Amino acid sequence: MRGKSILLIVGGGIAAYKSLELVRALAARGVKTRAILTKAGAEFVTPLSLSALTGNKIYFDLFSLTDEAEMGHVQLSRSADLVVVAPATADLMAKMANGLANDLASTALLATDKNVLMAPAMNVRMWESASVKRNRAQLEKDGVLFVGPGDGEMACGEFGPGRMAEPMEIVAAIERVLSVAGPLAGLTALVTAGPTREPVDPVRFLANHSSGKQGYAIAEALMRVGAATTLISGPVSIAPPEGVKLQRVTTAREMLAACEAALPADVLVMAAAVSDWRPDIIANSKIKKSVDRVVPLIKLMENPDILATIAQGPKRPRLVIGFAAETDDVVDNAVAKRARKGADWIIANDVSGDVMGGDRNRVHIIDQNGREDWPDMTKSEVGARLAARIAETLKGAA
Ligand code: C5P
Repeated sequence: MRGKSILLIVGGGIAAYKSLELVRALAARGVKTRAILTKAGAEFVTPLSLSALTGNKIYFDLFSLTDEAEMGHVQLSRSADLVVVAPATADLMAKMANGLANDLASTALLATDKNVLMAPAMNVRMWESASVKRNRAQLEKDGVLFVGPGDGEMACGEFGPGRMAEPMEIVAAIERVLSVAGPLAGLTALVTAGPTREPVDPVRFLANHSSGKQGYAIAEALMRVGAATTLISGPVSIAPPEGVKLQRVTTAREMLAACEAALPADVLVMAAAVSDWRPDIIANSKIKKSVDRVVPLIKLMENPDILATIAQGPKRPRLVIGFAAETDDVVDNAVAKRARKGADWIIANDVSGDVMGGDRNRVHIIDQNGREDWPDMTKSEVGARLAARIAETLKGAA
């Protein structure tokens, strides 16, 4: 982490005192911090103590002429490698989730082009309120990263989730996000995972059994070897890997748009089981059974092929990897798919057993040199071995 810089936004919560310890821990690791103190934050820690610990002046006013003359809010939000909000109050979360920019902290959050890591801290009932849940879901969808909150006794005397993560947990999360160690440091990875859902009417959809486990494991493994990793995920029920930028989508067309928006990237791994078709008409209301029991016909139309579109498009990553989930002629089909789609590697797996949803996988890697058969292993092991192979290839070509 040495040499990196953090923009720390300190919100108004009793946990703000822990942000002082966070700054000290970061300084001890050679990380420079600039801090924005919200008006409410300044009720809990003094600008003087933050300034003494960061060794920098503290920013708190959006309309301060001297602040803007020295470093404007846009530059402030972009000059750091990462923006950390600790404590992230319900108010700051709500502002960012809704794009409000009526003070320096919220304006910097809106203007930044860097990852944002939030360490929420609030009363348990606030944390569990419908609006905070909604805002958190929106922020996660927008790619904001979270650390904590933890469970325990709170300053207000109540118990439950809402306690801000301890400073050392936040340091560990920052370390993961910056991923400065590892052979892919400085490179970017884009991974897709899970199924897509194609609506038929407001209550029905077409989908498949993909659990997302393999794609999530690959994203986590790439992050661990240092790649700044974005994971575009269809609807799954597994927890996002910490330190990976997650964006959730539903349909194939949303997945394509999210991938295109996330480019450029050095490597693309398309592990998602994208629906090949979608209903050509989505009914606005639930399709009812008819009295004469005529079964409705659902006409399908083709979805865009995301892998082929990106592999043959102007922003093609240096290494494009697709999956081939097959039930018959696994390797032959994968070889043909590699050529047809324009991918560099195809990872073929036989999904006639319980691979979809299971924890293990047996894959064959098809590339320009032929095929490599990997033994049966866990999906995490496939992820780690694949990340190592990707690192070797990208670094070898650099
Ligand atoms: O053609 P098939 O679905 O077997 O190809 C599998 C590979 O292509 C996977 O990597 C999958 O993520 C990708 N794919 C895609 N867009 C589609 C269908 C599949 O990117 N519409």
